[in-house]
Amino acid sequence: MVNEAVRKELIAKYRKVFERDPEVMAYAPGRIEVLGNHTDYNEGFVLSAAINYGTFFAAARNAEKACRLVAGDLMKEVAFDVGAISRSSVDTWQNYVKGTLAGLAEVGGVEHGFDGMFFGNIPLGSGLSSSAALEMSAGLALARLYGMEVDKLTLARIGQKAEHAYAGCKCGLLDQLSSLAGQPGCLVKTDFRTLKYETVALGGDACFLMCNTHAKHALVDGAYNELRASCEQGAGYFASVLRHPVKALRDVSMAEWVLYRGGLEALVADRSAHPIGENERVLRGAGLLASGDLNGFGALMFDSHESSRRLFGNSCEELDVVVDAAKKIPGVMGARLSGGGFGGSVVVLAHPRDVETASVALANAYAARFGKACDVSIISPSAGAYVLE
Ligand code: GLA
Repeated sequence: MVNEAVRKELIAKYRKVFERDPEVMAYAPGRIEVLGNHTDYNEGFVLSAAINYGTFFAAARNAEKACRLVAGDLMKEVAFDVGAISRSSVDTWQNYVKGTLAGLAEVGGVEHGFDGMFFGNIPLGSGLSSSAALEMSAGLALARLYGMEVDKLTLARIGQKAEHAYAGCKCGLLDQLSSLAGQPGCLVKTDFRTLKYETVALGGDACFLMCNTHAKHALVDGAYNELRASCEQGAGYFASVLRHPVKALRDVSMAEWVLYRGGLEALVADRSAHPIGENERVLRGAGLLASGDLNGFGALMFDSHESSRRLFGNSCEELDVVVDAAKKIPGVMGARLSGGGFGGSVVVLAHPRDVETASVALANAYAARFGKACDVSIISPSAGAYVLE
């Protein structure tokens, strides 16, 4: 099992606070987005992977309606009533669990309170979806505690709703689905229109590095929602000028964008081009992976970052410095920002034999520009979320 030391530490902390053992525990990993940026809510395609960093959630029933929730890293506790769940503006980490609990309550069967604690090793604000890992681990553990059967898609939607209503980020379903659907050694290719996914084996000649810049991740500050609104505006425009039905930017090709972009405000046109191009890159990239062309796939990752930087405006200097450095490092095949953007991590594709030297070179390049190294870790595509039996 991954992250065994983290699990043991959570149990020790749980016993200390609640003076008993948890009845249920669940684990959910973070994710990397490998190709397909801001395509999920545009009903397009993404290649992603669950990672070897994640969050455990432990819980036991209590006789009353009160819920006690402890953030195991901060050792901070909040309490609320199971029948009166509301968003909080302090200790905002509680909102991800409260939102998930509210979603489970809509499905039914949430009657008593719980003593819960979560603890994990995903660096916060790194763009690796620690919030989705918290929602999915809490969702799985609490569903088991309440004796509910909740399928993966319903659980992912519950997590997404928690983000929308409790955290203020109008995200798509990528983070939650990737956390649930991961397979060791595989990427997950998801069609966000049909919500069908399949796994794509990565093979032994590739692995990922994640470079956490610690630059601020501003998703809930409205930047993400603003980008989403531009995409929706773009989709509305293309629906009015194209002859075929356009429900989302997924339905627009790059050739159509080139022909009709003149009718759009320049900013909205550029922003619309990003998910349209990303969709085409994911489809091409999946083909290249299947034929073992990792260099070709990596080149698409570099193109994806360039599109973020020039068209979508969701990169930043810290991310650009890492990607530019990656282009010059032997053995590195591709690199791009991963997730919402505006900071967080760069995901780098390299041959396993080159990862050690590439890690040092990336950290040094970052330090040369910013005076301190970025954190570089090796990422293994890993299994999705599960309840510990
Ligand atoms: C964040 C969101 C996802 C997705 C990515 C960008 O991670 O939570 O839904 O939109 O950004 O691809």
